[in-house]
Amino acid sequence: MNQYKKDFPVFQNKPCVYLDSAATAQRPASVIEAERYFYENMNANPLRGLYELSMAATDAYSDARSCVKDFINAQEDAEIIFTRNTTESLNLVAYSWGLHFIHEGDEIVTTVMEHHSNMLPWQMVAERTGAKMIYLEPEEDGTFSKEEIDRKITDRCRLIAIAQVSNVLGCVNPVRELADRVHRNGGVIVVDAAQSVPHMKVDVRELDADFLAFSGHKLMAPFGIGVLYGKRELLEKMPPFLTGGEMIEYVRLDGATWAELPHKFEAGTVNPAGAYGLKAAIEYLSGVGFDQIRRIEDELTAKIFEEFSKLPYMHIYGSPDPAKHSGIVSFTIDGVHPHDIASILDADKVDIRAGHHCAQPLMDYLKVGNTARASLYLYNDEEDIDAFISSVKKIRKIMGY
Ligand code: ALA
Repeated sequence: MNQYKKDFPVFQNKPCVYLDSAATAQRPASVIEAERYFYENMNANPLRGLYELSMAATDAYSDARSCVKDFINAQEDAEIIFTRNTTESLNLVAYSWGLHFIHEGDEIVTTVMEHHSNMLPWQMVAERTGAKMIYLEPEEDGTFSKEEIDRKITDRCRLIAIAQVSNVLGCVNPVRELADRVHRNGGVIVVDAAQSVPHMKVDVRELDADFLAFSGHKLMAPFGIGVLYGKRELLEKMPPFLTGGEMIEYVRLDGATWAELPHKFEAGTVNPAGAYGLKAAIEYLSGVGFDQIRRIEDELTAKIFEEFSKLPYMHIYGSPDPAKHSGIVSFTIDGVHPHDIASILDADKVDIRAGHHCAQPLMDYLKVGNTARASLYLYNDEEDIDAFISSVKKIRKIMGY
């Protein structure tokens, strides 16, 4: 058993081979305890009360913000906005920046491999503003050729929206290169970091990202807490996304002025328990270290590739190099629907995801309706992969081949 598995109570309570961490990660005891500690010791509505409990909640919430700021190397706490998840963060940028700073004739560049949450908000912006959507198409290994980039990113491009790591192909996209391109036009880059932040060191300044979004639950934090990073100068110019309590400076019957960053973008009661849990998750991940996380995921991915290569009816999508998969392996088996793969594995208590993975345009591009997907995290070990492979080997026989 790997040394981290014991930190995750679910594996003692409901033993399973969990290979669906790209959908949501399991939580270590320290995160579960942190959320519980918040409710038992600091529970009050933060930012409002002038009594001890509320001030403790406020401190917990702002400490979590500083922790996130350091984790992704933002310049200041005000650039970290707490949201519910990546989807909400991306919609915030689309509604607040996109609808106000994208104009008719502008081009919005994204890729065919995006999760729907980093595609639909931009389609909405294009439809409402008269801008044009342009989609980068990857090579078979998930990379974008120089010709593709040169041809599709013109001087009319005002916004690039791209996943740092694809939730299907696992490839790492060239965020910094694309950031430099769009900045030459005075445009912005929006990074969907849902699948990268949990698995690799992400530095918003190194990437020169204008906006970067991720979800807590994929990095072992509670559900319902997400992050939007934005450069201060951009956030300052943007109107609020949602209006209501806590995001105002002063309200009159004929209008209002807005609170300082980041509160301008955090309308209504916030989620301090989730933020406190997110801080505990970041502390847990930092204790393990990203070098170690990569080592575990790379070794196990290589083992999956090695075993799959012995089975001629298996197909893996994306790069033939396991090291380029960031712990995500999407695959099909000749003659077997991915939902049947997932159901047969489930009978052996092996949990994977099957379907279109909220990336239907990518499925169309790959000319495959659905895939099965195994996704790893630091608690997986060789025994998990052995159980997974032995279960996969039975599938075709069960299906009558
Ligand atoms: N976006 C998550 C996934 O890819 C849910 O599975």
